[in-house]
Amino acid sequence: MPAPNGPIASCSVKISGVHYRTIWPIATGGVRVIDQSRLPFEFATVDLQTLEDAAGAIRTMVVRGAPLIGATAAYGIALAVRHDASDARLDEAERVLQATRPTAHNLTWALTRMRRALEGVLEEDRVAVAFGEAARICDADVEQCRSIGQHGVELIRSRFESTGHPVNVLTHCNAGWLACVDWGTALSPIYAAHDTGIAVHVWVDETRPRNQGAALTAFELAAHGVPHTVVADNLGGHLMQRGRVDMVIVGSDRTTAAGDVCNKVGTYLKALAAWDNGIPFYAALPASTIDWSLERGDDIPIEERPAEELTHIAGRTSRGTVETVRVVPETSPALNLAFDVTPARLVTALITERGVCAASRAGLQGLYPDRQALRQAPRQAPRASSASTP
Ligand code: MRU
Repeated sequence: MPAPNGPIASCSVKISGVHYRTIWPIATGGVRVIDQSRLPFEFATVDLQTLEDAAGAIRTMVVRGAPLIGATAAYGIALAVRHDASDARLDEAERVLQATRPTAHNLTWALTRMRRALEGVLEEDRVAVAFGEAARICDADVEQCRSIGQHGVELIRSRFESTGHPVNVLTHCNAGWLACVDWGTALSPIYAAHDTGIAVHVWVDETRPRNQGAALTAFELAAHGVPHTVVADNLGGHLMQRGRVDMVIVGSDRTTAAGDVCNKVGTYLKALAAWDNGIPFYAALPASTIDWSLERGDDIPIEERPAEELTHIAGRTSRGTVETVRVVPETSPALNLAFDVTPARLVTALITERGVCAASRAGLQGLYPDRQALRQAPRQAPRASSASTP
């Protein structure tokens, strides 16, 4: 099924020769997404018809990745007003979507943008305006991610030209096209390098507990033909010590105005290892990920997800069925915090759609002079995981 959004030449992704985005509107008035909970074993799509469908898809990680969470939330608002365009339903939709996942800033960013677009719009016009704005959010994400690739590829190119060897990039989690609308953040420079003939090889952290690296990053790199190797989460430090990693590139779910980077849990340990071994550590992110109201990474709410994601693991059996098995003793409690914060001092640079900058207040403001960070007294954001966090 061809993806109906935008010219084919703008898409990075091919599955069995067909270009896809991760989300697009369909003729029934609903929205279609790729069901990421079934990858890498099955490539399937699922249709979202209602606000509850969209919120459920985000909550259960049928869709995931900061930019795609934002895009799905935007369409979630459009789906809500399709059935009831009242102010009350709009407020409810925002509340429901905001509560789905607490860490990725793109969610709040997209909901704010939808609210602004709908301000003062008559009820009878709200559906068209909401779908139009959601489509613009998606198109902008595609363009921003493409642009991140164009800036980030220069870092890979310069390493390639100085060594003459394939560039080994280590990445964590999935920050590719599946996490965005197209191209990806951390993977966009890698696709750009591969597509322009720069030899690149990717070390793919498996990314327990949900295995976004092993399941999703490996899937999309394979689909694009990019050389890669899946490694256990704990191997990165050793590979760095042995000179087998040239740079680390990760995505970000929320970046503070001072350049602290919140990303999938385990990212911080990779940054520490990179620092110790003098290896550049980059975070790639669009502006929609920057939370200008926060200075300190400590104030970012860290999502706590069900312990079952850690105590169980899914895989395909030799019979071809996908099954979930328990890997932790029945009596052992488990803590599943989904993100961690890498302090700006460990980040060599940020790769954004506007260029590469220092991970600092000055660096970000140099690229975004139009976005004044809110200079406010440090505030304590509510912690999503307070109940069971030691
Ligand atoms: O829990 P997930 O799968 O939504 O987490 C995704 C990540 O942490 C990505 O690395 C992140 O969204 C980076 S930006 C594409």
